[in-house]
Amino acid sequence: MKRLPIGILGSGKGTNCRAILERIRSGELAAEARVVISDVLEAPILDTAREFSVANAYLPPGQFRTRLEPETEEELVKMLREAGVDLVVLAGFMRVLHGPMLKAFPRHIINIHPSLLPKFSGLEAWKQALAAGEKVTGCTVHYVDEKIDHGEIIAQREVSILPKDTPESLHARIQIAERELYPTVIAKFCAKYRGPTL
Ligand code: GAR
Repeated sequence: MKRLPIGILGSGKGTNCRAILERIRSGELAAEARVVISDVLEAPILDTAREFSVANAYLPPGQFRTRLEPETEEELVKMLREAGVDLVVLAGFMRVLHGPMLKAFPRHIINIHPSLLPKFSGLEAWKQALAAGEKVTGCTVHYVDEKIDHGEIIAQREVSILPKDTPESLHARIQIAERELYPTVIAKFCAKYRGPTL
């Protein structure tokens, strides 16, 4: 079976990465994780990759806080290309991608964000939704462009905000929704990659 080669980028815990790797292992997702890359040396997402025997790498991000240096981004392109990646999956990757990556993988980079975009882009989106008095929030998977948490929306899932919610309880429910939504969206990319079946 033709499997979609993916590369996963993350800066943190890697719960979305784990959900994706589990679905690949169980055979639910016709993808192949070629590499997991992090801009944070000690990020648990790299441990997760090791646990699943997936190639992994730390990419020293350089001097900027919210983006990669242009040469570093070129290096990232090279690493993903060498790994034969078709779809780049951002799973908590906390840096904005610019020219080199967007040029190398047009409409082949997706991101997940814990709000119903275009509402509440940026950090700790669930706290923003709570503070705004929303009744419903959720998560969004979208194509990546040069702006933060911006780009054509592919799919969303709603999560109700309950009167007794704390930031932690709300965040936990959004993350459960994320771990369902992201593999579902990636499965659609897998089907497209595989082409028509008889
Ligand atoms: C996820 O909740 C994801 O939506 C968020 O980072 C978290 C990573 O968690 N991404 C953003 O906020 C992007 N702006 P994880 O490392 O456990 O998958």
